[in-house]
Amino acid sequence: MSKDKLWGGRFTQPTDKFVEEFTASIQFDKRLYHQDIRGSIAHARMLGKQGIIPLEDVEKIVHGLQAILGQIEAGDFDFSISLEDIHMNIEARLSAAIGEAGKRLHTGRSRNDQVALDIRLYLRDEIVEISTYLDLLIDALLDQAEANIHVIMPGFTHLQTAQPILFSHHMMAYVEMFKRDKARLEDCLKRVDVLPLGAGALAGTTFPIDREYVAEQLDFPAITRNSLDAVSDRDFALEFLSDAAILMMHLSRFSEELILWSTSSFQFIELSDGFCTGSSIMPQKKNPDVPELVRGKTGRVYGNLMALLTTMKSLPLAYNKDMQEDKEPLFDTIDTVKGSLKIFADMIREMRVNEPSMRRAAGLGFSTATDVADYLVRKGLPFRDAHEAVGKAVAYCVEKRKDIPELSLAEWQHFSPIIGDDIFDCITVEASVNARSMTGGTARSSVETEILRVREGK
Ligand code: ARG
Repeated sequence: MSKDKLWGGRFTQPTDKFVEEFTASIQFDKRLYHQDIRGSIAHARMLGKQGIIPLEDVEKIVHGLQAILGQIEAGDFDFSISLEDIHMNIEARLSAAIGEAGKRLHTGRSRNDQVALDIRLYLRDEIVEISTYLDLLIDALLDQAEANIHVIMPGFTHLQTAQPILFSHHMMAYVEMFKRDKARLEDCLKRVDVLPLGAGALAGTTFPIDREYVAEQLDFPAITRNSLDAVSDRDFALEFLSDAAILMMHLSRFSEELILWSTSSFQFIELSDGFCTGSSIMPQKKNPDVPELVRGKTGRVYGNLMALLTTMKSLPLAYNKDMQEDKEPLFDTIDTVKGSLKIFADMIREMRVNEPSMRRAAGLGFSTATDVADYLVRKGLPFRDAHEAVGKAVAYCVEKRKDIPELSLAEWQHFSPIIGDDIFDCITVEASVNARSMTGGTARSSVETEILRVREGK
């Protein structure tokens, strides 16, 4: 019957069973129980302090809510679909336990500001946790960069060999990306960390509430300044979802490289067995399931952003039931990002680097051709002419099936008479790498500087 509903007063007919199920959110918003109880305790204390409800009632409410918290954590709480969501499940149980006092808790509050509060509290903690997972991954990358500081690999553009680089430089490229991901999340946190409670259903409340006192209890550095905005905005969640999508994009690129690097054609790295699986038909297979799955999960994280953007599109102010759809994409993204980061950090730590394979590949594909051009420029030739001369030398190499280091001085001089014996000092992959010692370059000295900077700046 409608009479078991907290809002049953104006209804005469019971809710259709399927409608009840269809409109309920308890199946997924029960994970907000902790935040809901924490918020309610702060709200009750404020109501008591302001003389809006009796202090004896506040005591009963606080104890009652703490008891409910214990029951939920002990798995001893029956969540009911007919009570729709976490807010009403907890409130109904409270009233059943402590009577009258429980029914005073919702004074000056609405589920609209309550749910906004719960999500903000929840997301705030999750962002902090995701940040610590990012730190773990960054640490693993720094350790790999340090342990393999000297290892040379081919750098690619268009997936074609371009110039030799240090493997450590490549790892540090991801460190830069993940550091920005962290900074983005920290910035997003500023918008999440704002107290919406007090907005009521949409217009505020007639009771003399003290929002600053609630904010203080819940550690919010700021409170919302417009009640309509407070209950109807989810841009803080969208911002998080888009930051998460960018983070996953980075992980997907890294995944792709790890997959490629562990093929038998590349053999640049070996992922430890714990992060791979075998094939049920091909006995030789060791599949890089973990990076493949992280690459695949990027899709759902993008989808979650699109889902909430689309849900919010064109919604009139203030709260609309549509907004109940904010939670599943948000929770799914949080779970996916945390899982992906955690597994990645462990996988990177255990990844083995195959130095000889990388070193061999680094010398292929005329990877030091730019170094010859730069050499000619240092000898006075304009860069375009140098480019042309080296291009011809490369064409010659292709035709003669030779590599750049195999050309004799006489052969070199055929392409430019200003080439001297010192050419041989600058066409090794080591020389090529170490010559790029500007800030942000791939020379060992530059990479070491960046590792130190990140280690100290964290
Ligand atoms: N379960 C609801 C949600 O997640 C809580 C807010 C409901 N407010 C309302 N006016 N029906 O959005």
